[in-house]
Formats: sequence, C-alpha cells, structure tokens
Amino acid sequence: MTIAAVVGMQWGDEGKGKIVDSLSDQVEIVVRCQGGANAGHTVVLGEEVYKLHIIPSGILRDGVMSVVGNGVVFDPLGLVEEIDRLEEQGVTVQGRLLLSDRAHLVMPYHRVLDTLSESQLAENKIGTTGRGIGPTYAAKASREGVRGHNLLDADRFMAMAREKIATANRRITWLQGEALPADETLEKLAVARERLAPFVADTVAYLHQAQAEGRKILIEGAQGSQLDIDFGTYPFVTSSNTTGGGFASGTGLPPNAISDVHGVFKAFTTRVGAGPFVTELLGDEALQMRGTGENQWDEFGTTTGRPRRCGWADVVIGRYSKRLSGINHLHITKLDVLTGFEKINICVAYELDGKKIESVPADIEALERCQPVYETMPGWQEPITEATKFEDLPAAAQAYVKRIFSEIGIKLGTVSVGPRRKQIVTVKL
Ligand code: GDP
Ligand code: IMO
Ligand code: MG
Repeated sequence: MTIAAVVGMQWGDEGKGKIVDSLSDQVEIVVRCQGGANAGHTVVLGEEVYKLHIIPSGILRDGVMSVVGNGVVFDPLGLVEEIDRLEEQGVTVQGRLLLSDRAHLVMPYHRVLDTLSESQLAENKIGTTGRGIGPTYAAKASREGVRGHNLLDADRFMAMAREKIATANRRITWLQGEALPADETLEKLAVARERLAPFVADTVAYLHQAQAEGRKILIEGAQGSQLDIDFGTYPFVTSSNTTGGGFASGTGLPPNAISDVHGVFKAFTTRVGAGPFVTELLGDEALQMRGTGENQWDEFGTTTGRPRRCGWADVVIGRYSKRLSGINHLHITKLDVLTGFEKINICVAYELDGKKIESVPADIEALERCQPVYETMPGWQEPITEATKFEDLPAAAQAYVKRIFSEIGIKLGTVSVGPRRKQIVTVKL
C-alpha cells in the first residue's frame, strides 16, 4: 500500500476515524481531501476520546504527518480551537500539520449564511451541521473565496476580510439576519491568522514529493457516499464529492496512484439530517441501535449532538458506493451493537412502484417511494466485544458479516466490535 484511501459508504459516521487510526500505523502521511468541520471523527485510545473535525485522525499516531488538503474547507477560528483542544489532550500538533495554501477558508459570515439559508428553507431544511460548509463551497465555485495562502500576508488578508465582511453583511441584512460585528470579527480573524500562518504550505508539491519517494500516504474521506453532491440523495447532501473523485481533486494526487480503497460500512445504517432513508426504523429497534446517549459512541452526532436516525443495513447503497469509489477493502463497524436482536434484516434491493430495482434513483421523490426488499437472518445474543479473531464471533454473526461481504462483492477487510483500537478482527474470505 503506497497510496490508500478511506471512504464512508453510507451517510457518514460509519467509524472512519477508527479505521483511519487502525490503518495509520502503516503510513507516514494522512491527508483529508474534502469537507470541513461538518465531519466529526472519533478515536478512542485508552480512556481518552478524541474528536477530530478538520485535523486528520493520523495526528494521533506518532511520526505521522497530517495534511489538510486543497479540497477541504477550514474555519480558522474553529481550527485554532481544535489545535488547542488536542494539545490539552497531550497531542503535539506543532510541526506535524500542514494546511493547503489552496484550501478555502470558512469565513465567519459563511456560518451565518448557512444558518440563515436553513431557516429560510423552513420545513424543507437540509439539516446541515451549521458549519458554513455549503456557503464556503458556493463561494469557491463562484470564485469569491479566501484561500490558505491568503493567511500568509497579514495586511492583504485583513483588507480582504474587511471587504468581504462588509459585502456579506449587506446580504445577511437583506436576508433579515443579524450583521456580523466587523471589528470584533476582524480581531478574532487576526489572532487566528497569526496562529495558522506557520502551518500553511504547498501541500500539492509536498504530496507529489512524498509520492516520488514512495512514502505511504492515506487519504481520509469525510461524510459518506450518499452525502456526495453528485451521487448522493440531492439536495439532502453535503457540498463536496465524498466519493472516489474527491481523493484526487482534493489532494492533487493522481487517481491512478490510489491502489487501495477502504470502504467503511456500519453494520446497520444511520443518517443525521433530513432526506430519504429507505431502511429507516422508527420504533424500539431504532432505539436499540441508537443507544441512550450514555456512551460516547451511541448514535448522537459527534459534531452537533443530534440523535442519528437508524435503520437496517442497505447493500444497495453498499454496492453503489463500492462502484463509485473503487472500494477493494471492506470494514464493517459497530457489529457489537447488533448483539441482542433476534432477527436482522438486510436490504438487498428496492421496490419502486411495483418494480424491483437495484440502483439508487436520482429523483428523491422516487427514492422516497422505494420500499426495502429485505432478507432476514438470525441474530445472536452473545457479547462480541472481546473477539480477537473472526472465528471468535458467534456463527450467526459470522454469517451476517459474510453475507454483507458477498453482497457487496469484497473478500478482504475487518469487522470492528467496539470503539477501541484493539476491538477489530481481520476478515479474509
Ligand atoms: P466517523 O465520522 O465515520 O469517523 O464516525 P463517528 O466518529 O462520527 O461515529 C462513529 C462512532 O462509533 C464513534 O463514537 C466511534 O467511537 C464509535 N465506534 C467506531 N467503531 C465502533 C464499533 O465497532 N463499535 C462501537 N460500539 N462503536 C464504534
Ligand atoms: P463525518 O465525516 C454525518 C450531513 C448533515 C446534513 C448534510 C449537509 O463525521 O461522517 P453540511 O453541514 O455538510 O452542509 O450538511 O450532510 N453531514 C454529515 N452527516 N457525518 C458527517 O461527517 C456529516 N457531514 C455532513 O447532517 O444532513
Ligand atoms: Mg462523524
């Protein structure tokens, strides 16, 4: 493995942080390629729980360099807080983090515009994380953005920020929002600029050099395939390409250099925010999957704390996701959560207006009408969190895992049986 990638196969929160952590003992560089602080990647090491939003999960491994690629959008104020939080938790960030000079900045007004646009949508809200992601990518596409390299020149950055805040405030007022206090906002930006400027680098050149030297690089995807702006449940998606295409466009690494693609697939499905969800459950089974919120890893958003919607595994989107990103390793996470169910359903196809289909319709109204075609498998009652090899799992759990691997068409990977680093077993079929 020289260049590999980790990608979410559902609607995010599949456990990518844990899988990146488990793979990053074999790599020298971990690079984020898209998204921003809408991501929340949790890694549990001993008693310590780390929540990463912008900084790649590789920061938790000694000797690994963390790169925020050009396709990421980062909020300078939020990033400074994240660096401080990590350093308080004993993680060294200085000298181990690079921010792309081409990455776009989430400016304070982008966050305001995100919230305003959601409140205007009223009952049609997307349910965004409110982190300013959509407005920042919109500014990037309309060529009005502020980029990493702008942090390197204090005077130019402050002048640019002043002008852009004034322009954004006119729009915010027009949308009946509360204008940002310009001087106070500029002061905060000035402090963040000074802190972050030393991390800004030409990450494209850095990654090309690393590639030429044969150094091992891992690309850390954020969100999941069904939140992809092109291939997801549009418009209930995020604003970047969360699938294979984003690996190259968000790092500058050529697509044919990425040989291993690790798909992360939760043993059941969750979604936070609005939009179609064919296998969603609403009763007690959903509560059993979600947990009560007492544990760090119960199904409540890492970024927003919102309860996640839960439902059965859907291999229609599993197969779609495999094809979109070229996945050749499968990591099934949170299998332990399914312990205790008498029966477990897997959605193997959809029924749309009386016809069986095996692809995901583009039109969300059609997707809303899709009914899941389930195959039912027996559950297991034994706890599995102590398993150290595949054979330690109860027969019914092994059968469930094998079934998902074979439905998606992959033979190699792992099954995660708990949030901790060691709670993972290898699968080779
Ligand atoms: P990400 O966004 O894909 O990195 O996933 P999140 O961190 O948002 O959500 C996954 C949650 O599940 C986190 O709280 C993890 O600590 C936790 N987790 C990961 N793998 C497992 C597992 O196998 N079992 C359990 N119970 N929790 C897990
Ligand atoms: P990780 O990387 C789960 C969802 C939001 C909303 C939609 C658009 O932790 O898996 P945005 O703020 O991006 O404009 O919101 O996308 N969303 C996520 N859901 N995990 C994430 O990231 C998400 N990032 C965005 O809930 O439905
Ligand atoms: Mg998450």
